[in-house]
Amino acid sequence: MSIHTEDIAKKITISTIKKKKGIEPITMITAYDALFAKLFDKSVDMILVGDSLNMSFFGADDTISATMEQMIYHTKAVCNGAKHSLIVIDMPFGSYSTPHLALTNATKAYQETGALAVKIEGGSERAEIVKILTQNSIAVLGHIGLMPQFLRSNGGYKVRGKDEEDIAKLIEDAKAIEKAGAFAIVIEGVKKEASELITKAVKIPTIGIGAGVECDGQVLVWSDAFGFFEDFKPKFVKRYFDGATHIKKALTDYTTEVKSKQFPSDEFTY
Ligand code: KIV
Repeated sequence: MSIHTEDIAKKITISTIKKKKGIEPITMITAYDALFAKLFDKSVDMILVGDSLNMSFFGADDTISATMEQMIYHTKAVCNGAKHSLIVIDMPFGSYSTPHLALTNATKAYQETGALAVKIEGGSERAEIVKILTQNSIAVLGHIGLMPQFLRSNGGYKVRGKDEEDIAKLIEDAKAIEKAGAFAIVIEGVKKEASELITKAVKIPTIGIGAGVECDGQVLVWSDAFGFFEDFKPKFVKRYFDGATHIKKALTDYTTEVKSKQFPSDEFTY
């Protein structure tokens, strides 16, 4: 089957995504503003307004200090730019610590943005929260495996699914989230053999990041994938573009021309 990215013309819905499991890999990328969301729209199935923006956009060391207000602001911008891809807003750390808080904040996210779903990190321990949201007609994208919001309490970034016990726990997590009503699950930082077993164990799509090719789809953080974020590059990130080098070169061209008074020439002058 040949799939042309430009063919994804209609607005993608939750049911479109669910139907892709086992049929066609799901494509997802992050975006934090209207400009890039517009560039990515139509070419990807889903756009995630990830709390990774706290690092790659805001310059913080981790995602922990991202706020609901920050996520809503950026999701509004992404919704202004993207009209076709399914937009997911990441619920930041502390915004879903109790079922009541989760429902209040997810309702606010639904009311104030055009996102079709919220994303919540956590496995079986967060199933009750996923259930409260889905029972109140809020679509949830789960997130299991390596969970950046819990890196301090979990002792840092650790690849998951390395032994049978952990694989069993991850499968239990995925099943609990599925039973609670999530429409899909992000699997992050998990050995590919484990992701394959998780993907086979649930009927909803899995979307991997650092989780191997057997997931039902893939997600990458845009600034990593396109080489704008230079501080570090995890093993799972493939750089499809050398953004930072291109920007720096263009900026040098611009400043050199300004200093030498080559710009603005008559062509760019009224
Ligand atoms: O915040 C984010 O960008 C994410 C992805 C890494 C899945 O959660």
